[in-house]
Parts: sequence; C-alpha cells; structure tokens
Amino acid sequence: MPDLSTTYLGLPLPHPIVASAGPIAHTLDGIRRLEDGGAAAIVLPSLFEEQIERENEALTRLMAEGADSTGEASSYFPSMGEVAAGSGAYLDLVRRARERVQVPIIASLNGATTDGWVDYARQVHEAGAHAIELNLYHIPADPMATGRAVEQRYEDVVRAVCAAVPLPVAVKIGPYFSAMGEMATRLVAAGARGLVLFNRFYQPDFDLDRMEVAPTLDLSSPAEIRLPLLWLAVLHGRLDVSLAATTGVHSHVEAAKYILAGADVVMSTSAVLKHGPAHLGAIRKGLEAWMETKGFSSVSQIRGSMSQQHVAAPSAFERANYIKILESWEG
Ligand SMILES: Cc1cc2nc3c(=O)[nH]c(=O)nc-3n(C[C@H](O)[C@H](O)[C@H](O)COP(=O)(O)O)c2cc1C
Repeated sequence: MPDLSTTYLGLPLPHPIVASAGPIAHTLDGIRRLEDGGAAAIVLPSLFEEQIERENEALTRLMAEGADSTGEASSYFPSMGEVAAGSGAYLDLVRRARERVQVPIIASLNGATTDGWVDYARQVHEAGAHAIELNLYHIPADPMATGRAVEQRYEDVVRAVCAAVPLPVAVKIGPYFSAMGEMATRLVAAGARGLVLFNRFYQPDFDLDRMEVAPTLDLSSPAEIRLPLLWLAVLHGRLDVSLAATTGVHSHVEAAKYILAGADVVMSTSAVLKHGPAHLGAIRKGLEAWMETKGFSSVSQIRGSMSQQHVAAPSAFERANYIKILESWEG
C-alpha cells in the first residue's frame, strides 16, 4: 500500500484529502460526518465579521427594547456577555468539534477590519482550533483602488493575525493578482505558513425575467483545476510554505494532478455536497489505487514531481506553450 501521509501547516495527516470550508461543517453533526467520511482535516465555514456585527446590532437593539419594557420582559434580556460574544456559536462549534472529533480543525475567518481579524483569530485560538485559514475575500469595487493598496491590505492583515496568535495560519486567496508569485512571497514573509489556491469568488448572474441581479453559487467542475494547478506548479519548491489545492477536486484524478503539481493537501467542497461526505474516502481510495498501478510508493515521492522546477520543459507552464498550441490550431 502506498504511504499517503503528508504534513500541512505542521500538522501530520494520514493522507492529503481535506474538507474545505463549506456548509456541511456548520454543525457538529456535519463535522462528524466529514470525519467519518474520510476527511484528514476539516476547515470550518468562514466566520464573517459582517455577520457578527449584524448579530451584535440585533442584540443591542433587543437590549434597548428590553430596557424600556416591564419586569417580566427581562427573561429575554441578553447579558452583556452574550452581546460581546456575537461569534459565540462559532466558537462553541470549534470547542465541541475539538472535543468530539480526532482530525485537526481549521477555523476560517473572513474579517472586514484588521481589528476584527485579530480579535476573531484570538478567539478561535482560545476555543482550541488547530490552525486558522484566513479567507481573504475582498472585491475592490472602487475604481480608484490600486492593486498595490489591495495587496498591502492583505499583507497587513496576515502580519497582524500571525503576530497575534501562535497558531499556524494559512491564507486562502483568489487568482486575481498581477504578480501572483510576488504576492505569495509577501504573504509568506508576513507570516503565512500555508497558501490555499484558489478561492472561487462569488460571481453574480442576471435574471432576465425578473430583471434582477441573481445571487448564484454554482458547484465547481473538474475542468476548473487548471488555474490552481498552474500556480501550484509554479510556486512549488520556491517558497517555504505548505500548499493546499482547492477548486475542482471531484475524484482522485484531480487530487493526483494537484499533488504532482506540488500540493501538500487537496481540498474538496462541491463534490462532497454532490455525493456526500463518504466521497472524501472514495477520493482517497482512488488515489491509493492509482498510485499502486503506477508503482508509486508515497505521496512525498510524487509531490511536486511535475512542478515547474521538476519537469523537463519548464516553459510548458508559460507563454511559449500557448503559442505552440495556437500554431497547432492553424494546422
Ligand atoms: C456552498 C458553499 C459554501 C462555501 N463557504 C465557504 C466559506 O465559508 N469560506 C470559504 O473560505 N470558502 C467557502 N466555500 C468555498 C470552498 O471552500 C472551496 O474553496 C470552493 O468551493 C472550491 O472548491 P470545490 O471545487 O471543491 O467546491 C464555499 C463553497 C460552497 C460551494
């Protein structure tokens, strides 16, 4: 049997198939199903600062209304503690997950302010998370926002969070940087121990009947692995950082390709939503069987073996290959 063990963010894992942030891990039952289904580690859904702010505002309103009402009403009067802990349900989920499951629990944060990021990072650390994933998800809709300013904001958040907690921090980013390599280097210099490539940013559609912007969240397809595959292959071996692949992992085929490119772990959400948590185990088994067929003895043997630094023709990842393909179309 091939040895599938790997290390991610300093955490030793028996195999590289991880549940990425998604709705199933919203409950303890879901987290347990993901563990039973075969996840080597579980990333919780993101704690969004805006959601907490909304919760806190609602509680504050409730308190103000309660203060105006009669004595009996005090039963619904929230304590100051509750108001201060708008993130309470999330922290409770982290705590209970730590008590009830064996696999590493990675809390995911999506803040809007640097103070918010740092504050929630401290809270999830205290709640017992093994690691933190920062979901850096910002759409710079202001046409005057410069690329440099956006990059600086990301770097500042990562540096502040890494300085505030002793936990390993992974950073989940989208692919939309002019110079991905430099951005990745800056995030690592700011303290990131892992990079998660890539987030799928929400892209709204238009509903032509209702003439409205339609909120849509389509599940991924395996064809979407190409962009993360490219950047994993380019970055592997160039930075001292764990690499996680996310997007398009529906079977062992995508998992194997990502590992060959250089991923330490391979994450999945869409396929798990489609087929259920046991699909994670099926991906692991498929990977094992494929490695056996090829005569590969371990994940560490093959990891990065098709990265840009290891392939015979490094230009295969760059412009030259594109031109070759275009020429072949011209007949
Ligand atoms: C319904 C749904 C909810 C998600 N929620 C989160 C989230 O809270 N935080 C996050 O970082 N990513 C979230 N994601 C993104 C996934 O973690 C993953 O990165 C993305 O879906 C690409 O992987 P996939 O192709 O395996 O789905 C969500 C995805 C889906 C489909």
